[in-house]
Amino acid sequence: AHIPVICIDGPTASGKGTLASEVAKRLGFHLLDSGALYRATALAAQDAGLDLDDETALARLAAHLPLAFRDHRVYLAGRDITDPLRLESTGGMASRVSQHPAVRAALHGLQQSFRRLPGLVADGRDMGTVIFPDAGLKVFLTASAEQRAQRRHKQLISKGISASIDDLLADLKARDHRDMSRAHAPLKPAEDAQLLDNSDLSIEASVQLVLDWWQGTT
Ligand code: C5P
Repeated sequence: AHIPVICIDGPTASGKGTLASEVAKRLGFHLLDSGALYRATALAAQDAGLDLDDETALARLAAHLPLAFRDHRVYLAGRDITDPLRLESTGGMASRVSQHPAVRAALHGLQQSFRRLPGLVADGRDMGTVIFPDAGLKVFLTASAEQRAQRRHKQLISKGISASIDDLLADLKARDHRDMSRAHAPLKPAEDAQLLDNSDLSIEASVQLVLDWWQGTT
């Protein structure tokens, strides 16, 4: 049977995660946060003391990730990694790990296994271009770098973590550049993607827009 998929791709801190989980909730669909798989691979590599340039070892690790998702928490070999998974430093390591084609290939099947009835909302960088090219709806979400840095800043402050907007902005731009210029599965909109710039939109307005597009496809 054809299992519906909605892809939400876009740069770091564009609000993909929030949008994807809200849309999934409204539709009763499953959710794939593909960045979490790269982040978990990075943490597993750190635990194993692997060099982040060792493509072969990283791919072997990614192919057998002892990952489990339970009650909105993520476990790696039984250890709760939900909090370390979200650290900026983990995102930076994930961005390096994700450059390697063999790592991306190792995670391909795992990502596709999230496609189950009644449907899936998948967020990441290459959901619409590589992992689910036949998706019924592809959204490419953007927001200005300044907006994204400010949102990230607010998020960190609310968690009691101090950070400078300038540092966050520089880090975002470096990560965007790395994600867009990599040779394999670079961050770019699928040809048939709907572009959504949410710089001046509320979360609810973005959710509504995506739900309207989805209604239009079915
Ligand atoms: O989206 P998130 O910040 O969790 O992703 C962490 C890193 O994983 C990104 O900077 C990107 O390099 C990588 N990634 C990827 N492909 C995806 C999802 C994430 O390369 N589908």
